[in-house]
Amino acid sequence: MAKIISVCNQKGGTGKTTTSVNLAYALASYGIKVLLVDMDPQGNSTSGVGVNKIALENTVYEVLLGKANPEQSIVKDVFPCLDLMPCNINLTGAEIELVGILSRETRLRKALEKVEKEYDYIFVDSPPSLGLLTLNALVACNSVLIPIQCEFYALEGVSQLLNTINLIRDNLNPKLEVEGVVLTMADFRTNLTHEVIDEINGYFSNKVYSSVIPRNVKLSEAPSFGKPIMLYDPHCIGAEKYKELSIELIGPEKYADLVGADPRENTHAIIKQEIGTFAEDREKGLDVVSDEDKKIVDKNDFNSDGVADAWPTVSEVDSTTEDLHLEEGDSGTWMTGEASIKQEVEEGSSYLEDNRDF
Ligand SMILES: Nc1ncnc2c1ncn2[C@@H]1O[C@H](COP(=O)(O)OP(=O)(O)O)[C@@H](O)[C@H]1O
Ligand SMILES: [Mg+2]
Repeated sequence: MAKIISVCNQKGGTGKTTTSVNLAYALASYGIKVLLVDMDPQGNSTSGVGVNKIALENTVYEVLLGKANPEQSIVKDVFPCLDLMPCNINLTGAEIELVGILSRETRLRKALEKVEKEYDYIFVDSPPSLGLLTLNALVACNSVLIPIQCEFYALEGVSQLLNTINLIRDNLNPKLEVEGVVLTMADFRTNLTHEVIDEINGYFSNKVYSSVIPRNVKLSEAPSFGKPIMLYDPHCIGAEKYKELSIELIGPEKYADLVGADPRENTHAIIKQEIGTFAEDREKGLDVVSDEDKKIVDKNDFNSDGVADAWPTVSEVDSTTEDLHLEEGDSGTWMTGEASIKQEVEEGSSYLEDNRDF
């Protein structure tokens, strides 16, 4: 049985889609079987994982209206371990068409019951409203993840969402829980961000994740390339923070079980995956690999703090065997994101302000 998490906030632009796509991808990258369900007619999760919204035969819309089986709508393996139940603008019609239909709030739940055995986690990205689509998402899930943007009026509408969750728990989904609250688009240079973080921690206390997602332009660029952030730019602060959030979500023990407690293991896995995509792109005749991107380190080059002395360069990637042919390393130090931030913080340098784009 899958754990089903709906990502909801009826406010627009709070990071629901960004959080759904990147958490789904992060978990899949650890080998967890994940289904991402796009319940927002804008279809941003669909295009965010590189699926063409126009060419779809069956989508969540057909599934909700009983015109297709859930299996028929699922796009398999958009990335390893990650499947997608996509949607497009047709889903707008569902809000109206569902009104006259029997058990209209439980349509998604019934559909997911048919496929959930295939998955460990299902993430449902929902639209910016509390209409029938969000209602379906809340009835179908075990828990709700609420992304809140660090801005003035951050809590506006949140009590309405919590009331809706309580109503659904009382009537349609007795086990419904709040999974957690994730703060997004934080700009730590402003007092407002710190005030909002304090306010939300006061309101939700232990439900707020300690990983706060900063404002990071890479996170807003990645969807236009159809890539989750861990593929688009695995070392940017946005990728690091979503990874941190994913570990909080599944628990550090589970993460250690899956990818090894050694930070080198996962860094290497990500780099290999990155190289895999480069190889695919290259096969398609796309010359997207810059020299900078080709730089790679072998996990054995790292010490246990995640720091490496050498920075070898990939001279060639064998796309069938994924063998990496390494040239002799550049001089200089290379380290995993965690290690580098730790070092910068210890040294008291203004690394975050200088080198990260907020
Ligand atoms: N942490 C972030 N930093 C910068 N831009 C972000 C961040 N999170 C989301 N965005 C961008 O903000 C916009 C709204 O985010 P999105 O995830 O689509 O919100 P929602 O799904 O709640 O409407 C999108 O253009 C997205 O790319
Ligand atoms: Mg969205």
